[in-house]
Amino acid sequence: MKIGIIGRGSVASALSARFAQRHEVRLGVRKVSDPSEAPIGEVGLWSDVLLLATPWDAEEDVCQSIADHVAGKPVIDATNPVGMRNGALDLVHEGPGSAAESLQARLPAAHVVKCFNQIGAEFMDDAGKLASAPVMFAAGDDAAAKNIALSLATEAGFEAVDGGPLSNARHLESLAMLWIWSAAKGPLGRTFGFALSHSKSKDT
Ligand SMILES: NC(=O)c1ccc[n+]([C@@H]2O[C@H](COP(=O)([O-])OP(=O)(O)OC[C@H]3O[C@@H](n4cnc5c(N)ncnc54)[C@H](OP(=O)(O)O)[C@@H]3O)[C@@H](O)[C@H]2O)c1
Repeated sequence: MKIGIIGRGSVASALSARFAQRHEVRLGVRKVSDPSEAPIGEVGLWSDVLLLATPWDAEEDVCQSIADHVAGKPVIDATNPVGMRNGALDLVHEGPGSAAESLQARLPAAHVVKCFNQIGAEFMDDAGKLASAPVMFAAGDDAAAKNIALSLATEAGFEAVDGGPLSNARHLESLAMLWIWSAAKGPLGRTFGFALSHSKSKDT
């Protein structure tokens, strides 16, 4: 599969290292400086799957570059709409629904899936660094696109779980905010991921 990742920061670097073990990966960037990189629009055209790993406030710019190349494609939204509100880090997306639904509205022909936003970038190249497999939910309306996100999360060592329709993305953005708060302000630091604990019995 040809996976285009927009960005070259912490998330893009970690996921590209992991995905490159099984797939062709190119990074879409503003200024190309490495053979693994290309202009954003070019990567949009080349890819079978796109993943957004840019700041949320860059989304309008990024969408302008990729809008003509995403019809029918999975667009995995790993971004979190985090900013300052009343002097504290918080989710700053405004309006109804989630940031992922706003992305879907900007890219109506794409199949947006919220995924890879619920844990720190340091575990995205190798979720096996954690004591048990962390969970990674994927929320989206197109089953095929969501299955691609889920299989990429499984390959990256996560317990990948169907998180329902794209309207559930707001819950995943809140889950990410809880991770960010716990890592930055709470007692956990950036050394944890959320994991599921399953019943020992099939009946309870
Ligand atoms: N860091 C984490 O642990 C983590 C975890 C989960 C989700 N996220 C989310 O993932 C996203 C990326 O986070 P990150 O930590 O990887 O960020 P980062 O390290 O700051 O990297 C951001 C990347 O976005 C690019 N960029 C910025 N503005 C752009 C624009 N207008 N057009 C095109 N590219 C632009 C930057 O490009 P240049 O190199 O050209 O400056 C850079 O490569 C954010 O939305 C964040 O909330 C982060």
